[in-house]
Amino acid sequence: LKHLLTVEALNDQEVMGLIRRGQQFKNGARWTPHKDQYFVSNLFFENSTRTHKSFEVAEKKLGLDVIDFDAKTSSVQKGETLYDTVLTMSALGVDVAVIRHGDEHYYEELIQSKTIQCSIVNGGDGSGQHPTQCLLDLMTIYQEFGHFNGLKVAIVGDITHSRVAKSNMQMLKRLGAQVYFSGPAEWYDKSFDVYGTYRSLDELVPEVDVMMLLRVQHERHDGQESFSKIEYHNQYGLTIERGQHLKPQAIIMHPAPVNRDVEIADSLVESLQSRIISQMTNGVYIRMAILEAILRGKS
Ligand code: CP
Repeated sequence: LKHLLTVEALNDQEVMGLIRRGQQFKNGARWTPHKDQYFVSNLFFENSTRTHKSFEVAEKKLGLDVIDFDAKTSSVQKGETLYDTVLTMSALGVDVAVIRHGDEHYYEELIQSKTIQCSIVNGGDGSGQHPTQCLLDLMTIYQEFGHFNGLKVAIVGDITHSRVAKSNMQMLKRLGAQVYFSGPAEWYDKSFDVYGTYRSLDELVPEVDVMMLLRVQHERHDGQESFSKIEYHNQYGLTIERGQHLKPQAIIMHPAPVNRDVEIADSLVESLQSRIISQMTNGVYIRMAILEAILRGKS
């Protein structure tokens, strides 16, 4: 693997290979890179806790040298572009750059460069894609059910602005899951119809195997809307009452950060059916698998 930019670019074998390897790492497997020293840098131009810090843990578990980068104290503040920032990291000898940036497809100009040598891992591009979150979500679902074929998965909430939803709908459909959507009509786009079916939340709750809630992404809205947390919760949230109508084996997922009592009732976040904490933990192991796959390609 040279880069990881979208999940769509991976074939099914590669996806399943990464999930299984993530599970092996979680079970205690170890891998030592062939070269003495590999440098990895995490370049986050949008805020992050889970993706940034789980990459850092994954890198340290693999014994990689992590080069600290903080956009707020870097030459980005002097007007340096993303391209020139990554060009610099590559020139310094960074082997892998994990990048989160607000621009969709920011990576295109980087991978077309003949001078930039480092691998790029997309840690989220605006409302575009979040491939590593998708892989950790797939790992979490696979751990639970052992397959994807025929599983009913509801993706609920601010779908238009969610890069997680876009990566997940594409890959879940390809792996044979039945995908359903719900949430505010204004945050749903007809183009998603090729991946699943839009239905009312109350119809979906008793039917699905996976109830995946999405964060309301106020930072990507135009700021003009009036928004009531209570109204949203009652109409589109997993309330305590809706939670009681889930199938006993159904699982609750959310990429987090969670707006408690908005997308999901506070008490359901750490409930028995919730896998939100497992998702965070799995993030470390799937990212170890991704980094290993990239660095193996360099040896
Ligand atoms: N799920 C996710 O991407 O979380 P962070 O924004 O904290 O990385």
